[in-house]
Amino acid sequence: MRVSGKTILITGGAGGLGSAMARLLSREGAAVFILDLEETKGTSLAEEITQSGGRAWFCKTDLTQEADWQSAFQLAEEATGRIDVLINNAGINIRKPIEEMSFDEWNTMMRVNTGTVFLGCKTAIPVMRRLGGGTIINTSSVCGLIGHRYTPEAYTATKGAVTMLTKAVAARYAKDGIRCNCINPSTVDTPFVQELFKDPERKKERLGEVPLGRLATVEDVASAVLYLASEEAAFINGVALPIDGGVTCC
Ligand SMILES: NC(=O)c1ccc[n+]([C@@H]2O[C@H](COP(=O)([O-])OP(=O)(O)OC[C@H]3O[C@@H](n4cnc5c(N)ncnc54)[C@H](O)[C@@H]3O)[C@@H](O)[C@H]2O)c1
Repeated sequence: MRVSGKTILITGGAGGLGSAMARLLSREGAAVFILDLEETKGTSLAEEITQSGGRAWFCKTDLTQEADWQSAFQLAEEATGRIDVLINNAGINIRKPIEEMSFDEWNTMMRVNTGTVFLGCKTAIPVMRRLGGGTIINTSSVCGLIGHRYTPEAYTATKGAVTMLTKAVAARYAKDGIRCNCINPSTVDTPFVQELFKDPERKKERLGEVPLGRLATVEDVASAVLYLASEEAAFINGVALPIDGGVTCC
């Protein structure tokens, strides 16, 4: 098992990507803490993992609130005696181009997509330092690496900030035994995208951007996270890892 005995906190852990990460990391031996606002989904995911022999807890958390972060870390440390990995994965997308987006909507995107990563790193760093080190993995996007004509500018700006926040944390806190990396997935196959792909033109347009000719799966993303969370990635620090079938290489 590749993350045996580790305690891993996953934000947005009740969502599409987060739940796939929780399932895979628990199968590979980790105790997982699902931090999310979605109580029903989060609780049933924790039950599912527990019933299949894993260790999982749901923590109802508003990740924009600093006090909620403190409670979640306290719960995880009290329950397992350690904190090894934080995955800052929660995110939203208000799907509007810049000229239709209000300043309030822009601020909401920044608060959730970038602000929660800031709060997560801020909370995790002193705890990980005290415990002898740890790993932070941030979910950015291909849009944290390139401009993309079909994606809201605000989303791209928030994910660009996540990519650079990752590198800055990696550079400063490596001395404390803390690695910080981000993943940069392209569009993932979700019910939302399947709906979009009912329009054959849209489908052709989007798949045409991907040299490997398909969408990412939640398992593609979870596998990359598993690697970064494991000791196999002990010398990987400050990396922005595209999981994109080659979208960002052309
Ligand atoms: N789905 C894709 O195609 C794709 C591609 C690249 C990057 N990403 C990124 O991956 C991450 C996960 O995306 P997803 O597709 O699983 O989305 P999702 O909507 O399925 O899951 C996101 C989760 O975050 C939670 N969340 C949002 N705001 C919160 C808050 N303030 N407090 C607590 N929880 C909160 C939601 O409740 C939800 O469960 C996001 O950061 C997204 O930007 C997604």
